Amino acid sequence: MNNSELIRVLPKAELHVHIEGTFEPELMFEIAQRNKIDIPYKSIDEVKQAYNFHNLQSFLDIYYAGANVLVYEQDFYDLAWAYFIKCQQDNVVHTEIFFDPQTHTDRGVAFEIVLNGLKKACVDAQEKLGITSHLIMCFLRHLSEEAAMQTLEQALPFKDQIIGVGLDSSELGHPPSKFERVFAKAREAGFLIVAHAGEEGPAEYVWEALDLLKVNRIDHGVRSEDDPKLLERLVLEKMPLTVCPLSNLKLCVIDDMADHNIHRLLKQGVKVTVNSDDPAYFGGYMNDNFHAIEQALPLSQDELKQLAINSFEASFIPESEKRKWIKHIHAL
Ligand code: HPA
Ligand code: ZN
Repeated sequence: MNNSELIRVLPKAELHVHIEGTFEPELMFEIAQRNKIDIPYKSIDEVKQAYNFHNLQSFLDIYYAGANVLVYEQDFYDLAWAYFIKCQQDNVVHTEIFFDPQTHTDRGVAFEIVLNGLKKACVDAQEKLGITSHLIMCFLRHLSEEAAMQTLEQALPFKDQIIGVGLDSSELGHPPSKFERVFAKAREAGFLIVAHAGEEGPAEYVWEALDLLKVNRIDHGVRSEDDPKLLERLVLEKMPLTVCPLSNLKLCVIDDMADHNIHRLLKQGVKVTVNSDDPAYFGGYMNDNFHAIEQALPLSQDELKQLAINSFEASFIPESEKRKWIKHIHAL
């Protein structure tokens, strides 16, 4: 079996994907039309030309604008269902999906509309495609602590439908410490904890995510490499990093895929995983990310398998399910 075939047949868990970042231009046009909402593009080509980013913020401005056309429960269902079809194509058998309630509630869309649409797609994906999933609600870190606290309050009645909380949006200038009290409350309520840290921000933000937010996983975390003491701790604690190679390239976190540190981190024993982040904007879904690193870096087949094994080990599924998928991978 060559590497391409191996990537195709490997069962994989996706642990870092923003559902608003899976919004393909074709679906965006369709939903904009039926909701009679103007978008600042004349054609799908024009949309794709706008997807030329030089940092995280230049992407976020366009990403939030795209989400403006999502209004009804059916819109959120359609968005998530389209992503599940991509999962099926890439043999992603389990996914833990981020959503940003504030992007929608701040426009007057009810929290329940967002959650119900996504949840119905998750139920159908399990029934019709055999794909399991969890939802993780992210706080927008460029907004206030108070706004995050209000969002957490809104989520409490739906605790059984949301496995965890995370932290995303503009990293620089918005350290994890800003949300220490919100995450303490979320932990008390029984949510699992993740946070974006060390994407554009420094290794110091990863320390804060570990020590102040008490995360179960770090999203991105690639800047941890700047700090040997931090790397030591990540290895010791088996702390997963949800790495997103194509995202890092598109947002200029790295200049060249050959410089990506996912292989170095893996060799040092860090529990790194491969993820797509915002695949409609960054040029590819799960398998495209695997192909991009496989082509640029000298990854062995055992290492490709280890990345898939890590994705299940780092996931929030029951131990018995983890063992089942890992056994499946060892048998390939
Ligand atoms: N970083 C921070 N916030 C985000 C991202 C990301 O890569 N994608 C969507 N929101
Ligand atoms: Zn992300």
